[in-house]
Amino acid sequence: MKAAPERVASQRDITAEIAALAAEYQRTGGVAGQEAQLRLDYPPYRSSALRHPKHPLLSVDPAEVERWAPCFGHQDVDPVDADLTAGHPGEPIGERIIVTGRVLDAAGRPVAGQLIEVWQANASGRYRHQLDQHPAPLDPNFTGAGRCLTGPDGTYRFLTVKPGPYPWRNHHNAWRPAHIHFSVFGTAFTQRLVTQMYFPGDPLFELDPIFQSIIDPAARQRLIARYDHDLTEPEYATGYRWDIVLSGRGRTWTEGQHD
Ligand SMILES: [Fe+2]
Repeated sequence: MKAAPERVASQRDITAEIAALAAEYQRTGGVAGQEAQLRLDYPPYRSSALRHPKHPLLSVDPAEVERWAPCFGHQDVDPVDADLTAGHPGEPIGERIIVTGRVLDAAGRPVAGQLIEVWQANASGRYRHQLDQHPAPLDPNFTGAGRCLTGPDGTYRFLTVKPGPYPWRNHHNAWRPAHIHFSVFGTAFTQRLVTQMYFPGDPLFELDPIFQSIIDPAARQRLIARYDHDLTEPEYATGYRWDIVLSGRGRTWTEGQHD
Protein backbone atom coordinates (compact mmCIF):
# COMPACT_ATOMS: atom_id res chain seq x y z
CA MET A 1 0.00 0.00 0.00
CA LYS A 2 1.29 3.41 -0.92
CA ALA A 3 1.92 5.85 1.91
CA ALA A 4 -0.23 8.96 1.67
CA PRO A 5 1.81 11.89 0.36
CA GLU A 6 2.81 14.28 3.09
CA ARG A 7 0.71 17.42 3.04
CA VAL A 8 2.65 20.55 2.12
CA ALA A 9 2.57 22.95 5.05
CA SER A 10 0.75 26.23 4.59
CA GLN A 11 2.07 29.59 5.76
CA ARG A 12 -0.56 29.40 8.49
CA ASP A 13 0.94 26.10 9.73
CA ILE A 14 4.48 27.50 9.67
CA THR A 15 3.47 30.73 11.39
CA ALA A 16 1.70 28.75 14.14
CA GLU A 17 4.81 26.60 14.67
CA ILE A 18 7.03 29.70 14.82
CA ALA A 19 4.70 31.25 17.41
CA ALA A 20 4.63 28.06 19.50
CA LEU A 21 8.44 27.84 19.57
CA ALA A 22 8.74 31.52 20.50
CA ALA A 23 6.15 31.07 23.28
CA GLU A 24 8.04 28.04 24.57
CA TYR A 25 11.26 30.08 24.67
CA GLN A 26 9.48 32.82 26.64
CA ARG A 27 7.81 30.31 28.97
CA THR A 28 11.10 28.64 29.81
CA GLY A 29 12.60 31.97 30.79
CA GLY A 30 14.53 32.83 27.63
CA VAL A 31 16.16 36.19 27.99
CA ALA A 32 17.89 38.47 25.54
CA GLY A 33 21.32 37.18 24.64
CA GLN A 34 20.67 33.69 25.95
CA GLU A 35 20.16 32.00 22.62
CA ALA A 36 21.58 34.38 20.09
CA GLN A 37 22.50 31.83 17.43
CA LEU A 38 20.10 30.04 15.15
CA ARG A 39 18.60 26.69 16.07
CA LEU A 40 19.78 24.04 13.64
CA ASP A 41 16.87 21.81 14.58
CA TYR A 42 14.06 24.23 13.79
CA PRO A 43 11.10 22.28 12.34
CA PRO A 44 9.39 25.24 10.58
CA TYR A 45 12.53 25.46 8.40
CA ARG A 46 11.29 22.35 6.56
CA SER A 47 13.92 22.24 3.86
CA SER A 48 16.70 21.89 6.47
CA ALA A 49 15.13 18.86 8.22
CA LEU A 50 17.27 16.26 6.44
CA ARG A 51 20.44 18.27 6.05
CA HIS A 52 21.18 20.05 9.28
CA PRO A 53 24.00 18.52 11.35
CA LYS A 54 22.83 16.19 14.11
CA HIS A 55 26.24 15.47 15.61
CA PRO A 56 28.75 17.79 17.27
CA LEU A 57 31.21 19.45 14.94
CA LEU A 58 34.46 17.58 14.37
CA SER A 59 37.72 19.39 14.95
CA VAL A 60 40.11 19.41 12.03
CA ASP A 61 43.70 20.50 11.86
CA PRO A 62 43.46 24.12 10.65
CA ALA A 63 46.93 24.00 9.13
CA GLU A 64 45.97 20.96 7.04
CA VAL A 65 42.76 22.62 5.83
CA GLU A 66 44.71 25.68 4.79
CA ARG A 67 46.70 23.52 2.35
CA TRP A 68 43.67 23.23 0.06
CA ALA A 69 41.23 25.93 1.19
CA PRO A 70 40.68 29.13 -0.84
CA CYS A 71 42.85 32.10 -0.04
CA PHE A 72 43.11 35.61 -1.40
CA GLY A 73 45.68 38.30 -1.82
CA HIS A 74 44.88 41.91 -1.00
CA GLN A 75 46.14 42.92 -4.42
CA ASP A 76 43.34 40.84 -5.96
CA VAL A 77 40.58 43.07 -4.56
CA ASP A 78 39.82 45.99 -6.83
CA PRO A 79 37.87 48.98 -5.43
CA VAL A 80 35.37 48.62 -8.29
CA ASP A 81 34.43 45.18 -6.92
CA ALA A 82 32.42 47.00 -4.23
CA ASP A 83 30.16 48.57 -6.85
CA LEU A 84 27.58 45.97 -7.84
CA THR A 85 25.93 48.47 -10.21
CA ALA A 86 29.10 48.62 -12.35
CA GLY A 87 30.70 46.24 -14.81
CA HIS A 88 27.80 45.98 -17.27
CA PRO A 89 26.79 48.03 -20.29
CA GLY A 90 23.99 49.80 -18.42
CA GLU A 91 22.55 50.56 -14.99
CA PRO A 92 20.69 47.81 -13.16
CA ILE A 93 16.97 48.20 -12.53
CA GLY A 94 15.96 48.92 -8.95
CA GLU A 95 16.39 51.19 -5.96
CA ARG A 96 20.06 52.12 -5.80
CA ILE A 97 21.38 51.75 -2.25
CA ILE A 98 24.58 52.31 -0.30
CA VAL A 99 25.26 49.65 2.34
CA THR A 100 28.01 50.41 4.80
CA GLY A 101 29.06 49.59 8.33
CA ARG A 102 31.95 48.44 10.44
CA VAL A 103 33.36 45.07 11.39
CA LEU A 104 34.01 45.12 15.12
CA ASP A 105 35.29 42.76 17.80
CA ALA A 106 33.67 42.20 21.19
CA ALA A 107 35.31 45.32 22.64
CA GLY A 108 34.11 47.52 19.77
CA ARG A 109 37.55 47.66 18.18
CA PRO A 110 37.61 47.85 14.37
CA VAL A 111 38.73 44.80 12.41
CA ALA A 112 40.76 46.18 9.51
CA GLY A 113 41.78 44.50 6.26
CA GLN A 114 38.90 42.02 6.29
CA LEU A 115 37.68 40.55 3.02
CA ILE A 116 33.90 41.09 2.94
CA GLU A 117 32.00 39.32 0.18
CA VAL A 118 28.31 39.84 -0.61
CA TRP A 119 25.81 38.14 -2.90
CA GLN A 120 22.17 38.91 -3.46
CA ALA A 121 19.10 38.63 -5.68
CA ASN A 122 18.30 41.42 -8.12
CA ALA A 123 15.52 43.96 -7.61
CA SER A 124 12.99 41.39 -8.87
CA GLY A 125 14.10 38.82 -6.31
CA ARG A 126 15.95 36.60 -8.80
CA TYR A 127 19.49 35.24 -8.43
CA ARG A 128 21.68 34.83 -11.46
CA HIS A 129 22.07 31.14 -10.68
CA GLN A 130 21.08 27.95 -12.47
CA LEU A 131 19.00 26.76 -9.53
CA ASP A 132 16.90 29.92 -9.42
CA GLN A 133 14.33 29.46 -12.17
CA HIS A 134 11.30 31.22 -10.69
CA PRO A 135 9.52 33.47 -13.19
CA ALA A 136 11.02 36.83 -12.23
CA PRO A 137 13.25 38.57 -14.77
CA LEU A 138 17.02 38.44 -14.75
CA ASP A 139 18.65 41.84 -15.13
CA PRO A 140 21.33 41.92 -17.86
CA ASN A 141 23.00 44.74 -15.93
CA PHE A 142 23.21 43.00 -12.57
CA THR A 143 25.21 39.96 -11.46
CA GLY A 144 24.68 40.32 -7.71
CA ALA A 145 28.12 39.65 -6.22
CA GLY A 146 30.70 42.04 -4.79
CA ARG A 147 33.57 42.30 -2.36
CA CYS A 148 35.78 44.79 -0.56
CA LEU A 149 38.32 45.07 2.22
CA THR A 150 37.55 46.85 5.48
CA GLY A 151 39.45 50.07 6.03
CA PRO A 152 41.62 50.98 9.06
CA ASP A 153 38.46 51.82 11.04
CA GLY A 154 36.78 48.52 10.08
CA THR A 155 34.47 50.15 7.54
CA TYR A 156 33.14 48.35 4.47
CA ARG A 157 30.97 50.00 1.80
CA PHE A 158 28.97 48.67 -1.14
CA LEU A 159 26.90 50.33 -3.83
CA THR A 160 24.14 48.07 -5.12
CA VAL A 161 20.39 47.85 -5.70
CA LYS A 162 17.90 46.77 -3.09
CA PRO A 163 17.15 43.05 -3.56
CA GLY A 164 13.56 41.89 -3.89
CA PRO A 165 11.92 39.17 -1.77
CA TYR A 166 11.79 35.76 -3.44
CA PRO A 167 9.82 32.49 -3.19
CA TRP A 168 11.72 29.45 -1.90
CA ARG A 169 9.37 26.43 -1.59
CA ASN A 170 10.02 25.70 2.09
CA HIS A 171 6.22 25.46 2.35
CA HIS A 172 3.27 26.62 0.28
CA ASN A 173 3.63 30.31 -0.66
CA ALA A 174 6.94 30.74 1.22
CA TRP A 175 8.79 34.03 0.60
CA ARG A 176 12.11 35.20 1.99
CA PRO A 177 12.40 38.76 3.31
CA ALA A 178 14.76 40.87 1.17
CA HIS A 179 18.33 40.23 2.28
CA ILE A 180 21.98 40.43 1.32
CA HIS A 181 24.31 37.52 2.11
CA PHE A 182 27.58 38.54 3.75
CA SER A 183 30.81 36.58 4.20
CA VAL A 184 33.62 37.72 6.49
CA PHE A 185 36.74 35.83 5.52
CA GLY A 186 38.94 36.11 8.63
CA THR A 187 42.67 35.57 8.24
CA ALA A 188 42.12 32.07 6.82
CA PHE A 189 39.27 30.14 5.23
CA THR A 190 38.64 28.11 8.42
CA GLN A 191 37.58 31.34 10.14
CA ARG A 192 35.10 32.38 7.47
CA LEU A 193 31.73 33.56 8.81
CA VAL A 194 28.55 33.84 6.74
CA THR A 195 25.40 35.73 7.62
CA GLN A 196 22.52 37.75 6.14
CA MET A 197 21.57 41.40 6.40
CA TYR A 198 17.91 42.46 6.25
CA PHE A 199 16.08 45.73 5.63
CA PRO A 200 13.97 47.53 8.24
CA GLY A 201 10.20 47.12 8.26
CA ASP A 202 10.00 44.03 6.05
CA PRO A 203 6.50 42.50 6.33
CA LEU A 204 7.94 39.00 5.77
CA PHE A 205 10.01 38.88 8.98
CA GLU A 206 7.24 37.28 11.01
CA LEU A 207 6.62 34.64 8.35
CA ASP A 208 10.18 33.56 7.61
CA PRO A 209 11.44 30.43 9.39
CA ILE A 210 15.08 31.22 8.59
CA PHE A 211 14.92 34.65 10.24
CA GLN A 212 12.82 33.26 13.10
CA SER A 213 15.15 30.30 13.72
CA ILE A 214 17.20 32.81 15.70
CA ILE A 215 14.95 32.51 18.69
CA ASP A 216 16.23 35.53 20.64
CA PRO A 217 14.40 38.66 19.36
CA ALA A 218 17.34 40.93 20.24
CA ALA A 219 19.72 38.80 18.17
CA ARG A 220 17.31 38.92 15.23
CA GLN A 221 17.24 42.71 15.42
CA ARG A 222 21.01 42.80 15.02
CA LEU A 223 20.59 41.42 11.48
CA ILE A 224 18.45 44.37 10.37
CA ALA A 225 20.24 47.33 8.82
CA ARG A 226 19.28 50.87 9.86
CA TYR A 227 18.12 53.41 7.31
CA ASP A 228 20.50 56.38 7.60
CA HIS A 229 19.43 59.58 5.91
CA ASP A 230 22.87 61.12 6.42
CA LEU A 231 24.22 58.35 4.24
CA THR A 232 21.59 58.86 1.58
CA GLU A 233 22.92 60.80 -1.41
CA PRO A 234 20.60 63.36 -3.05
CA GLU A 235 19.12 62.26 -6.37
CA TYR A 236 21.25 59.12 -6.27
CA ALA A 237 20.92 56.41 -3.60
CA THR A 238 19.37 55.65 -0.20
CA GLY A 239 21.70 54.63 2.63
CA TYR A 240 21.69 51.69 5.04
CA ARG A 241 24.09 51.11 7.89
CA TRP A 242 24.84 47.70 9.38
CA ASP A 243 27.69 46.71 11.71
CA ILE A 244 29.00 43.17 12.02
CA VAL A 245 30.13 42.23 15.53
CA LEU A 246 32.34 39.14 15.54
CA SER A 247 32.21 38.14 19.20
CA GLY A 248 30.84 38.96 22.63
CA ARG A 249 27.28 39.57 23.79
CA GLY A 250 26.37 41.74 20.82
CA ARG A 251 27.66 39.24 18.29
CA THR A 252 26.03 39.08 14.88
CA TRP A 253 24.50 35.70 14.11
CA THR A 254 26.58 33.69 11.64
CA GLU A 255 25.89 30.34 10.02
CA GLY A 256 27.58 27.37 11.71
CA GLN A 257 28.57 29.21 14.90
CA HIS A 258 26.89 28.06 18.09
CA ASP A 259 27.03 29.02 21.72
FE1 LIG B 1 19.28 34.51 -0.36
